[in-house]
Amino acid sequence: MSSKKLKVSAINNGTVIDHILPGKAYAVVKILHLERYNETVTIASNVTSGKTEKKDIVKIENRVLSNEEVSSIALISPEATVNIIKNYDVLEKRKISLPDKVDNIVHCTNPLCITNHEKVRTRFKVIQNKPLLIRCEYCERTMDEKDVEKVLG
Ligand code: CTP
Ligand code: ZN
Repeated sequence: MSSKKLKVSAINNGTVIDHILPGKAYAVVKILHLERYNETVTIASNVTSGKTEKKDIVKIENRVLSNEEVSSIALISPEATVNIIKNYDVLEKRKISLPDKVDNIVHCTNPLCITNHEKVRTRFKVIQNKPLLIRCEYCERTMDEKDVEKVLG
């Protein structure tokens, strides 16, 4: 390799989640359940590039994320960008944003919450973006970023 920097290969088709907060790629992998995905997933953590500080990148070949999945990434890394790749080109660059409600993405940390006992979809209201604070619409339990990461996967 001519450059001293390790380069992560470009992908042909799929999704590149870029500008993930350093160290948070693993949480993104968990929230998207990529450990169960059968095609190539590339995880780069704490990489440096010319124009940015350290960042993480997750590349998922041959998959386009749903809107719900894109919103779930905002819980972990609100500044991330989601690039859709087709024939090696960036077809679309989606800036992600946290919705007002977080539906069916994370479990409630309250063991007594009805969502942990009956087949109902979880629903949280986003109280605050930075730092993250969400509140369960069933039991009012509030969860911060650490709580959210605990219940992933
Ligand atoms: N990428 C990739 N495979 C491709 C094309 C792009 O893995 N076939 C990756 C790039 O390495 C980069 C991301 O997708 O991590 C976005 O690509 P691009 O928009 O070309 O990069 P930048 O202009 O640096 O993006 P930004 O402005 O969002 O930093
Ligand atoms: Zn609850």
